Amino acid sequence: MARALLRHRPVIVRRLEPADVDAFRTVRLEGLRNHPENFGSDADDEASYPLERWTKWIERGGGFGAFVDVELVGIISFSAETQKKHRHQGSIGSFYVRPAWRGRGVADALMTAAIEEAARQVEHVSLTVTASNEGAIRLYKRHGFEVVGRIPASIRVDGADHDELSMHRRVAASD
Ligand SMILES: CC(C)(COP(=O)(O)OP(=O)(O)OC[C@H]1O[C@@H](n2cnc3c(N)ncnc32)[C@H](O)[C@@H]1OP(=O)(O)O)[C@@H](O)C(=O)NCCC(=O)NCCS
Repeated sequence: MARALLRHRPVIVRRLEPADVDAFRTVRLEGLRNHPENFGSDADDEASYPLERWTKWIERGGGFGAFVDVELVGIISFSAETQKKHRHQGSIGSFYVRPAWRGRGVADALMTAAIEEAARQVEHVSLTVTASNEGAIRLYKRHGFEVVGRIPASIRVDGADHDELSMHRRVAASD
């Protein structure tokens, strides 16, 4: 559990639990709706998922939330690859901080938690980010990620195409 002080209100970053499912669903759908070009997943698709599917996602254990008091203000996830030849690899995603809580260190606390989780499980971490998402790219570089590729027209929203960048960092214990 990570703890950061936010203008005298502590931010706690911890693993999401099944009891967080309603808040998680609300925050996740808010992110997908407000920033469709920044996520591969679609808000309408996920809004139609039954609650059990959201709970199962949480039970897999890779979701983290940033809480101020009892309010969920941001989310992130880490998942390790399961195929034998890829098990040393993982990815970070589902990264979203509610607008009122941006620029205050919440995003850094979430990313630190995800990288720490990655370091417990794998040696390499990847993520993708929409090429125009400059703030997020700056944050990822601050956390040691490098751009390793560009996927043209990776995301299509309302007929507009958006490139995505692939970013990578090592998290092996020797780093
Ligand atoms: C991406 C996202 C999670 C980043 O969160 P954020 O709070 O905006 O990011 P940061 O913590 O980097 O904060 C923004 C700025 O405030 C600064 N900042 C962070 N903590 C600070 C603090 N405690 N005091 C002062 N400034 C601070 C950062 O340095 C950053 O400055 P920069 O933009 O000049 O680099 C958030 O913008 C978001 O949810 N975006 C929409 C969804 C999205 O794009 N998700 C990523 C998909 S790949």
